[in-house]
Amino acid sequence: MQFKDIVLERYATKKFDGKKIPDEKIDDLVELIRFAPSALNLQPWRIRIITDQNIKELLKPAAFNQEQITTCSHLLVFCADPDYSGLIKKLEKLLKDNNIPEEVQTMIVGMASQSAGAMTREQQLAWSQAQTYLALGNAVNGAKSLGFDSCPMGGFNPAEFSRILNIPAPLVPVMLCPVGYAADKAMPKVRFSKEEILF
Ligand SMILES: Cc1cc2nc3c(=O)[nH]c(=O)nc-3n(C[C@H](O)[C@H](O)[C@H](O)COP(=O)(O)O)c2cc1C
Repeated sequence: MQFKDIVLERYATKKFDGKKIPDEKIDDLVELIRFAPSALNLQPWRIRIITDQNIKELLKPAAFNQEQITTCSHLLVFCADPDYSGLIKKLEKLLKDNNIPEEVQTMIVGMASQSAGAMTREQQLAWSQAQTYLALGNAVNGAKSLGFDSCPMGGFNPAEFSRILNIPAPLVPVMLCPVGYAADKAMPKVRFSKEEILF
C-alpha cells in the first residue's frame, strides 16, 4: 500500500469483529512503533498490550463503555515515561552498545540532561506525553499498512486504567490504540481545507 492510501483509508474504527490478529503481525506493529522519532531519541514511552477478554471487560467502563475496548483483538495502552534520569541512563547505554562515537555520546547525553534538567516535573510529563503521540501515529498508520484497523482513543480515565492494569508510577497512560479487523464502515473523511490550515 502506498503511504497516501494508508493515510486516506485509515479511520477511527468504532467496532471490531473480535477476530485475533496473528502474533507476528503484532510484532511487526511493535517494530513500527519502536522506530518512531523522539526528542534526542529518548523514546519516553512504554506500551502495555492487553489481550485478555476479562481485563478488557474491566477496562470498558473506564473508557466510556466504548465498544472498541472489548471488540478489538489487541488493546495497546500507550504510557508516557517522565523519568528522565532513567531514560538518559538507558540512552547512554544504548549509544555505548551501538558504538556511537564517544564525543557524540557525550554531546547527546549532555543535551538530554540539560533539556530535561531545565523542566519542571509537569513539563517533563507533558514533553513525554507529546512524544508518545508520535509513537501512536506510527501505530495507527502502521496498523493499516499491515492490513488491520485501529482507533486512537483519548476517551478514557487514565487513573482507572493505571489502577486496573497496575501500571507502575511514574508511567502515565496517555492514549489507547485498540487494533483489530473493522466491523463498521468508515465515515466520510472530513478535514479543513489546505487554505484553512496553511497560513
Ligand atoms: C487525541 C485523540 C483522542 C481521540 N479519542 C477518541 C475516542 O475516545 N473514541 C473514538 O472513537 N475516537 C477517538 N478519536 C478519533 C477521532 O475522533 C478521529 O480521529 C477523528 O474524528 C477523525 O476521523 P478519522 O480518524 O476516522 O479520519 C481520537 C483521536 C485523537 C487524535
